[in-house]
This record gives sequence, C-alpha cells and structure tokens, in this order.
Amino acid sequence: MSDVSLAPDYFGQWQVLPCNVSEWQATTRQLSYVAREDVAALVKAAGKNVLDVGCGIGLDYRYYKGGDVEYYGVDVTPKFVEEAHRQGVPCQLGNVLHLPFADGSWDSVYCKDLLIHLPPDKWRDALREMVRVARVQVVTLEDNWEDETVYMLREKSACVNKETGEVTHIRFFHNAYGKTAMITHALRLGVGVKVIHVDLPNPIKSADGVIRTGQITIYTKEGE
Ligand SMILES: C[S@@+](CC[C@H](N)C(=O)[O-])C[C@H]1O[C@@H](n2cnc3c(N)ncnc32)[C@H](O)[C@@H]1O
Repeated sequence: MSDVSLAPDYFGQWQVLPCNVSEWQATTRQLSYVAREDVAALVKAAGKNVLDVGCGIGLDYRYYKGGDVEYYGVDVTPKFVEEAHRQGVPCQLGNVLHLPFADGSWDSVYCKDLLIHLPPDKWRDALREMVRVARVQVVTLEDNWEDETVYMLREKSACVNKETGEVTHIRFFHNAYGKTAMITHALRLGVGVKVIHVDLPNPIKSADGVIRTGQITIYTKEGE
C-alpha cells in the first residue's frame, strides 16, 4: 500500500481519545446505532457483496456473517485490521484513495464515519474512488454536522489523555460534509444521490437547542 501518509498515525491519535479500542467498540454509540442496520438493509437489497471502507475493527460484519451477502473490509490502520482479523472479520489494509479493486467489483461500497477524517481536498477523491469500485451504489453514514461544529472539530478538538491528564489538541477530525456538498459532488460524478436523515444514538444538542442528526447518503450508479 503506497499512500498511508493521509493517516500516518491514526491509531496513535485514537489513543489520545478518552477510550481504547475495545472500550470504543463497546460504547452504545458505536454498537447500537440503528442506522447501521438501515444501511445493511439497503446493501442486502442491492446485491451480493459489500466493501466496507474504513471498516475499523469491522463492527458491521455482524450483519452479514453467515448470510447471503459477502462482506469485506478495508482500513488504513494496521492495528484495527489486526484486531478485526483476530475477531474473524474478512478485511485487509488499504487506503480509500487507492482501493485495490477493479471498477464495479462491489455491488455496494459503504463507509461510516470515514469522510469526517479526510482533509477537504481529499474527500472528493475518496468518493470518486468508492464510486469507481461500486457496481450499484455507495452508501455513506456520517453525522450531519453544522458549519459551526466543523470549525470546532477542526480548530479546537482537544482530548485528555486518561493516564497523564495531558490535554492534546489534535486535528483528528478534519471536516464534515453536509448535504449540499454531497449532492453537488455527486452531480459532478454523474451519479444519483439521496440523503436520509437518521437519529444519532446519543443525540447532541447545539447551543441553539437543535438536535443534530446523522445522515445516510446513497449514491446510485444505475439511476433511481
Ligand atoms: C471513526 S472510525 C469508523 C470505523 C468503522 N467504520 C465503524 O463505524 O466502526 C474511522 C475509520 O476510518 C479509517 N480511515 C481513516 N483514514 C482512512 C483512509 N484514508 N483509508 C481507509 N481507512 C481510513 C480509520 O482507520 C478508522 O478505522
């Protein structure tokens, strides 16, 4: 894999967050996100296989294990891939910008909470690459952040190291891409697009009282 420079120390950054990988896996937010099931239903209706890009430790594998739809994951972080393998999740190392698959080789390509980690000049390339390897659709699941929060994420995201108490300012979250940006780019790529708002497992209320939602975005290659 040539270009891991995009996330050279993703796991190191993750470690600064106030949880380790297994705690993260066990959090309500990660596990009981009902929108994951909604995505699995969309994937099962679309074909026989799915590529989960930025699969992490492969939390979504449980929707496909032993079923008719083949699941395969790709992630840029070696320690996540190692942990996924330990849990029997079929996956490999790989970067969303250079997916090692032929055009149209996956009925569905899916990513959850991946785009938010990509710099503004890279998320469009990432989407283009996922559209390239998809036959039917690309489905993304991300929080539906507002601009104000994007600023907060990019400029002020700070984490406390549980052991040392040290506060670290990181650029762990790069950006969040709202509905308008998603639709505009989809049109440029010549694919159909549909955005569905979904509830977040732990809804976050902004200062103005608005409860933030998540969004499933479906990019269709065969028109809808
Ligand atoms: C918030 S985690 C989400 C993991 C998983 N999708 C889930 O929902 O449980 C983001 C994941 O994206 C991966 N990632 C970050 N940059 C990537 C890249 N350029 N290519 C592939 N994976 C990447 C990280 O290693 C991490 O596992």
